[in-house]
Amino acid sequence: MCYAIPGKVISIDSKTVTMDYFGEARKAIFVTGSYEVGDYVYAQGGIVVSKLSEEDAIPILKMWEKQFFELKARDAILSEQSKFESPISPIIKRAEKDETLSRNEMLAILSVEGKDLELLFQGANRIRKNKLDNACCVHGILEFSNYCQNNCLYCGIRSGNANIKRYRMNETQILEAVDHSVSLGFKALVLQSGEDPFYSDEMLIALVKKIREKHGILLFMSIGERSKDCYKKLFDAGAYGALLRFETSNDLLYEKMRPGRKRIDRINLIRDLIEIGFIVATGFLIGLPGQSKDDLINDILLTKSLKPDMYSFGPLIPHPETPLSSIQTPSLDDALKAIALTRLVDPESKILVTSALETLSPDAKKKGLMAGGNSLMINTTPKAYSTSYDLYPGKSTERPITETIKNTIELLYSLGRAPTDLGVTNDR
Ligand code: 5AD
Ligand code: SF4
Repeated sequence: MCYAIPGKVISIDSKTVTMDYFGEARKAIFVTGSYEVGDYVYAQGGIVVSKLSEEDAIPILKMWEKQFFELKARDAILSEQSKFESPISPIIKRAEKDETLSRNEMLAILSVEGKDLELLFQGANRIRKNKLDNACCVHGILEFSNYCQNNCLYCGIRSGNANIKRYRMNETQILEAVDHSVSLGFKALVLQSGEDPFYSDEMLIALVKKIREKHGILLFMSIGERSKDCYKKLFDAGAYGALLRFETSNDLLYEKMRPGRKRIDRINLIRDLIEIGFIVATGFLIGLPGQSKDDLINDILLTKSLKPDMYSFGPLIPHPETPLSSIQTPSLDDALKAIALTRLVDPESKILVTSALETLSPDAKKKGLMAGGNSLMINTTPKAYSTSYDLYPGKSTERPITETIKNTIELLYSLGRAPTDLGVTNDR
């Protein structure tokens, strides 16, 4: 299974290549390596991750050619505009024209109910299609340690939870799991852990080097707060992506939810990551106790102001072994409204449909993709460990990964989405 289509390089400048995908031009930057016009490359998240020979590229392109256009046609049909109008139609139209929505308009979107909801999701989906077409990144995520020195009130692997089996994968185990993920077709992989100082900076840097010597993939680090210097070395070792949510834009709520931590430190680190050159995925939790609609709007606007490559936000699913065990789970509609509003506020963004959202209903993944979402993650953690990476209930499944991949690809095809990440259409 293939999660990227090779692009043919048609022009190059000092750090950017322009690639052709069946007549469409897309750009991607390159951090290392040299490229020539006529080369075939894989890009992920707007970064060139590897080069492949013409011999390898041609059969893959042949396989994709027909499907590429069929999927686009299906997406176009599914994104058609409904004739129905509602009080929010003018807001959607303004967003379609790239106009900045007022706070009152954003509040109106978060307050939509009943039959107008469908119209909102359709509008957001149409904007996604018109701005970004049908590409949908499918990243793998590999959880290599569930030890965490923090004690976030919402999280099942918080240090205060004595009722979970803790694990740490060693370097050999991680490398094997990465090999397996790559063999399954993933071209982008997130390495995630709790904030676990057992792994020194040097150990992580050596790990990244070993992975990147072997694999042309976009590697994301999701390891919590480390020094800027450590992140810079991880970047130089070849991990060009970082996933770090700021969790909430509300200072007081942040300090309550993340004892001993300050929101400003987190935000400064996210800014540092962007400055280093990382492709950053960031975002927040929906449904923190006391979080208002205004907070949620601030969360979306703060994410936008950070100019991340990807929005990563999802519902807080109460975990029985945490102080938030008895709070209410956000409704699926509330979580979908946040996706749709984000699409209206930042039309050209990549928005992840998170695994937490997927736990809310069997068709939540599809609904997220049809409400403005355009990225997915599939858990590639070996089954022996994945049940212990218990951030929230319902996260891990007994299903073999090959079945999850097959179901995900079938879902994407049925929605006219290509399970691939091409370069970007502009210099965002
Ligand atoms: N429900 C949903 N998401 C959670 N996270 C942690 N605990 C939960 C929960 N109970 C998210 C946090 C963190 C990411 C790794 O997992 O937002 O950044
Ligand atoms: Fe640790 Fe992250 Fe969980 Fe907080 S949310 S306890 S930092 S794994």
